[in-house]
Amino acid sequence: MRNDGLFLNALIIHYMSDEKDFSKIIQSEAYHHTKLFPKRDYVIVRGEGALLYDQNENSYIDCVAGHGVMNIGHSHPKYIEAIEEQLKKLVMVPPGYPVEERSKLLEKLAEITPKPLDQSFLSNSGTESVEAAIKLALVSGRNKKNPEIIAFKRDFHGRSLGALAATFNMRYRKPFMSWLSPHVKFASFGNIDSVKELINENTVAVLTELVQGEGGVYPSEKDYPKELRELCDEKNLLLIDDEVQTGFGRTGKMFAYEHYGIIPDIVCMAKGIAGGLPMGATISSEDLWNNFQVSEHNTTFGGNPLVCAAANATIEIMLEEHLVENSAKMGAMLINNFQEIAQDNDNIREVRGSGLMIGIEFKKPVKDRIQQAVDLGVLFLNAGMTVIRLLPPLIVNDDHVEKIISVMRKIAT
Ligand SMILES: Cc1ncc(COP(=O)(O)O)c(C=O)c1O
Repeated sequence: MRNDGLFLNALIIHYMSDEKDFSKIIQSEAYHHTKLFPKRDYVIVRGEGALLYDQNENSYIDCVAGHGVMNIGHSHPKYIEAIEEQLKKLVMVPPGYPVEERSKLLEKLAEITPKPLDQSFLSNSGTESVEAAIKLALVSGRNKKNPEIIAFKRDFHGRSLGALAATFNMRYRKPFMSWLSPHVKFASFGNIDSVKELINENTVAVLTELVQGEGGVYPSEKDYPKELRELCDEKNLLLIDDEVQTGFGRTGKMFAYEHYGIIPDIVCMAKGIAGGLPMGATISSEDLWNNFQVSEHNTTFGGNPLVCAAANATIEIMLEEHLVENSAKMGAMLINNFQEIAQDNDNIREVRGSGLMIGIEFKKPVKDRIQQAVDLGVLFLNAGMTVIRLLPPLIVNDDHVEKIISVMRKIAT
């Protein structure tokens, strides 16, 4: 028979002690979260700078960075302070009510992008920033009966039905094909002739990543974006640049278009913009946004004061700490060393990248190599089956880079 007094004491001690049942956390996630996410068998309990810590205080260099989100690293004191202050003051008012934090952010976005990009729609994710861009292109082509957009093979733009229509991977598209717009055509990335072949009287825009991320980390060849810009000008098409993954210093410039000397008509941003809180932004010119009538597009949460305060702090930290420059420097060090590793390694097909957006393509699936790296204290991401992708925080230093290289050398053999 159970002694209720003892049982109660044990229960109180259990709840008073700080000890957590980590296996229960893992089980609970495995059961109550949808099966859409393959789960790890460790629990991340905190992050500090470029490091994550698990339940046993094992530390990992975080080359996943929330899928390229944590550009300023984890737990930056200035970021925490900005959010705490804002939390006490004001969390939410809808976009129709002017607030200081939003106005500051809108100005900042206009400052870090060239003219005529100076009006933004603030949303909550990369997918939403792409949806807004697609809709902006469509309302700008209202005079066309069946407006078409050209995207690219290997492109990833999100998983909602509009963005998915412009995403190439059949694994993501297949179950939803009957709902995906047939008005998106796919050209070959980097091949200007294949874009020309798809242009017709209904084409309104070209939507592209300048460095394809999810598709395997493929930077554009040097002159190709300029050719694309010129073609869009010649044919009166909008150039939509999806900088969701490449933006905010990831490629060694604030935005990838800066590498190529072009100004897109519409730029989609998200991931790194708000230091980890969800935010998307679609920036374009006043002329283009004027093609929308009031309420033809809207959002409840987009651009709320809390996330705007987070984004303001994030951009300030990036500029004050020269994180874009650090991304270029550390990225070059990693890429050079990986290329050296690849030289006498038959398992590696190619090393590609720009700044701290790096892909190492192996000849065989990389799943086991990524697991091996976890055991050695580095978290890597994949891009497809055969590419190990690195999107570390832009704050990584020489010591982190040295360890990443030594782990890559071990798992590549
Ligand atoms: C280039 C690009 N566009 C859009 C998206 C979708 O962003 P989100 O997952 O924030 O909706 C992603 C996400 O990985 C991306 O890499």
